[in-house]
Amino acid sequence: MYCVQEVSPQIFWVGGSDRRLERFENMFPLPNGISYNSYLILDKKTALLDTADSSISSLYLENVEHVLNGRTLDYLVINHMEPDHCANIQDIVFRYPKVKIVGNSKTFQFIEQLFNFDKKNDYYEVKEQDEICLGEHTLKFYFAPMVHWPEVMFTYETKKKILFSADAFGTFGALNGNIFSDEIDFKPVYLSEARRYYTNIVGKYGPQVQNILKKLSDTDINMICSLHGPIWRKNLNYILDKYNKWSNYEPEKQGVILVYASMYGHTENAVSIIANKLSERGVKDMRIYDVSKTHPSYIIADAWKYSNIVFGSPTYNMGLYYGMEFLIREMARLNFQKRKVSLIGNGTWANRAVKIMEELLEGMKNMEIVGTPLEIKSSMKKEQEGEFDKLAESICNSMK
Ligand SMILES: Cc1cc2nc3c(=O)[nH]c(=O)nc-3n(C[C@H](O)[C@H](O)[C@H](O)COP(=O)(O)O)c2cc1C
Ligand SMILES: [Fe+2]
Ligand SMILES: [Fe+2]
Repeated sequence: MYCVQEVSPQIFWVGGSDRRLERFENMFPLPNGISYNSYLILDKKTALLDTADSSISSLYLENVEHVLNGRTLDYLVINHMEPDHCANIQDIVFRYPKVKIVGNSKTFQFIEQLFNFDKKNDYYEVKEQDEICLGEHTLKFYFAPMVHWPEVMFTYETKKKILFSADAFGTFGALNGNIFSDEIDFKPVYLSEARRYYTNIVGKYGPQVQNILKKLSDTDINMICSLHGPIWRKNLNYILDKYNKWSNYEPEKQGVILVYASMYGHTENAVSIIANKLSERGVKDMRIYDVSKTHPSYIIADAWKYSNIVFGSPTYNMGLYYGMEFLIREMARLNFQKRKVSLIGNGTWANRAVKIMEELLEGMKNMEIVGTPLEIKSSMKKEQEGEFDKLAESICNSMK
């Protein structure tokens, strides 16, 4: 059988979803699965844009066969060589032996590293803004290096003004029959997963995302077709605005997330007390996370969303509790920046937590420490309440 939908006359979505995979890249939890999109254009020439993950190969190959309906495949455009999209290249080139493989020099380098077939004679190398005319449709290639990987390019279809954007504008979450964002209540169903996808997968490459957004700023775009998640054909500014903020490391809202590590509950209590004092002062929509409970990808996504973070951690073997250390180091690796941070450290005999967190934050760009860090010796004492009030006050002032 087949499972395809028309995206625009003569352009078809031939992708699929995996609802069984536990973790994306064997790392990021997928509570709602993930989709792998691929697109097929029928014109005088036929072109397939990217393939799909091996988990959906059987239905995927039937989809392609169904849409081609006996025709041959002329071009296979490879916008991204990561295995979640390129896993079916070998099957496609064996089934359609006359196909030209469209990519850039990096694409071909990666094909040869990953596969053992020799199709060098069928390479069709493109350069920045080269075009391939399929008949009525024309494909134009914009390189988007490091909008996840170095070989990434976006393909723009000039007639219908459709941007095939590789991983950009993608999201975790399977597609549930509807493939367009305007057919779905996007905000409650996908937005937080789109943010978690962007920040953890592409977040390190904000400047590169800004480059491609600038490069395309004068291009008329009617539709954005990502490799993951729903297609955008209405209200494109909504997702473009999110990408602009996310890639500039600008918070979406003034607000606080509080992130703690705690063995015996005292650091946790300190964080709860601060949150309570913030609530009394009118701060709304806070999030509290335990680093041992919540996967870091969720905490990182919310850190990207809000303006302020409170980190609370015990000292652990003269170091930082390692769930907390891992989280802050991962944020630094993702180039996370421009946030206001307040610190709570705990220790029983040699309190090092605040010092270590300060050192980690110093290695990040534009991280402002708000208020005086709170030092707790095992548990909070009544005499410290004034310090808690002051810290809550400083956090509130920093959000004005
Ligand atoms: C394995 C382990 C190592 C610790 N290492 C240190 C340390 O090096 N320096 C220190 O001051 N406290 C150390 N502590 C004490 C904790 O920091 C202390 O228990 C802290 O108050 C716990 O806060 P909590 O109630 O939020 O878990 C250690 C505790 C444990 C369990
Ligand atoms: Fe990717
Ligand atoms: Fe991907």
